Amino acid sequence: MKALTLKATHRPLELEERPSLEALPGEAVVQLKASALNRRDYFITQGLYPGIKPPVVLGSDGAGIVSQVGEGVDPQWIGKEVIVNPGLNWGDAQASQGSEFNILGLPRDGTFATEVLVPATQLHVKPSHLNWYEAAALPLAGVTAYRATFSQGGLRGGETVLITGVGGGVATFALQFAVAAGASVWVTSSSNDKISRAISMGAQGGFNYKEDDWSKQCASQDRSPNLIIDSAAGAGYAALINIAGPGGRIVNYGATTGPPAKLDLFKVFWKQLRLQGSTMGSPQDFADMLAFVDKHRIKPIIDAVFPLREGNRAIDQMADSPQFGKYVLEAD
Ligand SMILES: NC(=O)c1ccc[n+]([C@@H]2O[C@H](COP(=O)([O-])OP(=O)(O)OC[C@H]3O[C@@H](n4cnc5c(N)ncnc54)[C@H](OP(=O)(O)O)[C@@H]3O)[C@@H](O)[C@H]2O)c1
Repeated sequence: MKALTLKATHRPLELEERPSLEALPGEAVVQLKASALNRRDYFITQGLYPGIKPPVVLGSDGAGIVSQVGEGVDPQWIGKEVIVNPGLNWGDAQASQGSEFNILGLPRDGTFATEVLVPATQLHVKPSHLNWYEAAALPLAGVTAYRATFSQGGLRGGETVLITGVGGGVATFALQFAVAAGASVWVTSSSNDKISRAISMGAQGGFNYKEDDWSKQCASQDRSPNLIIDSAAGAGYAALINIAGPGGRIVNYGATTGPPAKLDLFKVFWKQLRLQGSTMGSPQDFADMLAFVDKHRIKPIIDAVFPLREGNRAIDQMADSPQFGKYVLEAD
């Protein structure tokens, strides 16, 4: 098998030839057709992630065909087209993950490879309307967007939602999910082209967060957001507190630009806001996300596909976030 392995941070991943994987009890080997990148992979290569222990094969998202199962696993999985839930050992609670929770692709070897070994509990039948690239792009960003939008964000049809940084992998899913749920969706982006793309996908409009007065433009709309879904945080978080409607919810699943410089608690309590954290999703969220994607025939947005051997080029491109949607690696 081939694998793109992290040997050290701040260095390109190394393409290695490794022995084929053997299924362990309770586990399955998937011959991967494609994998996809998340900002997590970029952060790990930059040393900006906890618990980095090279060597490790990065990659949390993957889709392929089950080739082997270990003892105790239903042999009917063999030959099935699957996607992999990258959230391992979530635990029993829906409200939050347990202490054993971890993510495929650190510490456990991940999907930037031609084969991956995963617990059979992580296998799900590939949605039939998705091709291999689309299926590979779905798992991590899809479940994160689903939980942030519905399980934690409580979005209902007819509500107004603001999704920040819409070019991001998770954010494009949140846009698709919120539109499908019948919400009135607004977005922010650093790029007017990305805002136009979001509008073509059903958003009402958007604001360029590089413009100083973007939050004033947003606040001048007829309806203020019931829900804001954000992963940027940082200096821009204060604007989100200002923009949120009375009784509104702000869900954060990331803090790409760091923690907020200050938090105006007076506005938080006077406006009766709820500030909510969200991380990936439970097995129930994953199953619900797949059912939602299937019902609404949602297709992940792929920005570009690279051969596995050019994975470093894809990771390097993530530095400046030019993408709209997901970068995919084709296992070759
Ligand atoms: N908690 C979890 O389970 C979880 C899961 C997935 C991701 N995350 C975190 O969520 C963040 C996004 O992940 P991703 O994989 O979707 O990343 P991504 O595909 O690399 O997208 C990042 C996006 O962030 C947006 N952005 C950058 N600076 C911004 C700012 N100042 N204001 C608003 N938006 C800004 C950009 O949007 P534009 O291009 O539109 O400007 C960019 O495209 C990362 O911090 C990641 O670690 C957390």
